[in-house]
Amino acid sequence: NLLTAIYLAAKCPVLFAPAMDVDMFMHPATQTNIERLQSFGNIQIAPQIGELASGLTGAGRLEEPEAILQILINYFNQSVSLTGKNILITAGPTYEAIDPVRYISNHSSGKMGFALAAEAFRRGANVTLITGPTELVTENPNILRVDVITASQMAEACNVLFDKADITIMAAAVADYKPVRSAEHKIKKSEKELTIELEPTLDILKNLGGRKTGKQFLAGFALETENEEHNALKKLREKNLDLIVLNSPSSEGSGFGHDTNKITIFIKSGEKMEFTLKSKQQVASDILDTTFRCLNM
Ligand code: CTP
Repeated sequence: NLLTAIYLAAKCPVLFAPAMDVDMFMHPATQTNIERLQSFGNIQIAPQIGELASGLTGAGRLEEPEAILQILINYFNQSVSLTGKNILITAGPTYEAIDPVRYISNHSSGKMGFALAAEAFRRGANVTLITGPTELVTENPNILRVDVITASQMAEACNVLFDKADITIMAAAVADYKPVRSAEHKIKKSEKELTIELEPTLDILKNLGGRKTGKQFLAGFALETENEEHNALKKLREKNLDLIVLNSPSSEGSGFGHDTNKITIFIKSGEKMEFTLKSKQQVASDILDTTFRCLNM
């Protein structure tokens, strides 16, 4: 029908307000569908509890039109709205091939970058997500996803997409080294030692920092296990960033693979903000709040 057609073609944030009888609303089929819609980045305006057309009482009353209007106004007036901004986010690890069956990589899951992409979309941004190999799925069809495998491929994708981006957040754990040569055939086991010669990959973030214009905002991550603040500030300066997010894999519940993260943000002006352990979704929200504040300073 017409509504479905409009919804499927919509490239903008979508809010939906269910209204139905309580048994229909509470049915697992309805609840599963609501969760599915939310997983695509749509926002539910929950129904009210009260008297229903059927005479039953329960959840299912359409929210009052005045309240729906107020929710919409608040949504678009959010002081942290990124409506219309082009955001480029990188996520996940990269794989650097040793031979056709082996590679060098790291433990990055991609969760932080994916959470940033979802949150940026929720705030009205046009989101492009460049991701290394990960199990994660982008259920929101409005997030443009570009899959890459190696650091060189990620660099190339960033290179093409960077100029269009108002905000770039480099959350990927790019491999720092790659084998000088990737063997054409599987390397056979032998009694001798095996030496793999490695060379540095391009520092994508530093490269982007070198060419960013005054209008572009560039943020990176620093993963440190010692001299954390000193090293993060050095990266902020040397890579010409506007903001850097420090995370320490040593903090409990933080870093690779976890659903939570504990971060400290440093911004170019010298400000330091320490956050408590939070879900990656909330961490993404803190990073984007800070980004918004920097853009409006
Ligand atoms: N980064 C990048 N390209 C690389 C390596 C890292 O763009 N080849 C980016 C990461 O996405 C991250 C930031 O640089 O946003 C810092 O990454 P990190 O691994 O903490 O630091 P490095 O610069 O690689 O330095 P080191 O490994 O010596 O700490």
